[in-house]
Amino acid sequence: MKILFVCLGNICRSPLAEAIFKHKIKEKGLEIQFSADSCGTANYHIGYSPDTRTIRNAVKNGVPMRHLGRQFSSADFDAFDLIFPMDKSNLNTILQLSNDASHLKKVKLVRQYDPNGQGDVPDPYNGTDKDFQEVFDILDRTIENLIDELKT
Ligand code: 4NP
Repeated sequence: MKILFVCLGNICRSPLAEAIFKHKIKEKGLEIQFSADSCGTANYHIGYSPDTRTIRNAVKNGVPMRHLGRQFSSADFDAFDLIFPMDKSNLNTILQLSNDASHLKKVKLVRQYDPNGQGDVPDPYNGTDKDFQEVFDILDRTIENLIDELKT
């Protein structure tokens, strides 16, 4: 099953979601069943590494990160089985690029899997270390639950 995480810049939230997902499936021995990637709806950071604050926070929490920014394209609807935008704005941007009703059921807000609540993963870009840790905590529990629900 191919999973795609999507945010705006592809340097904070979605590459972290990808890294947490990959770290967990490796720990759980589920690498045969899943693969993951991430991208942004904007083109600001194509080819760039994740934000240094995101990398520092992830490593502090035991999760290695390795990704280069890329932009979402309508080809991703066919290339992936499930697409998880971080917030409603990115969800709407993605849906505007769809020309096939069958794509719609692949796209879900990632926090639909958050056992502690729904809504957006907040954008930490203009925030503090505390905001980066909050994003980590949201994605950590959300992705733990998401893998539990999706694994066979
Ligand atoms: P992300 O955060 O969408 O979680 O990667 C952002 C990164 C960059 C910008 C905004 C949000 N930016 O405006 O450059």
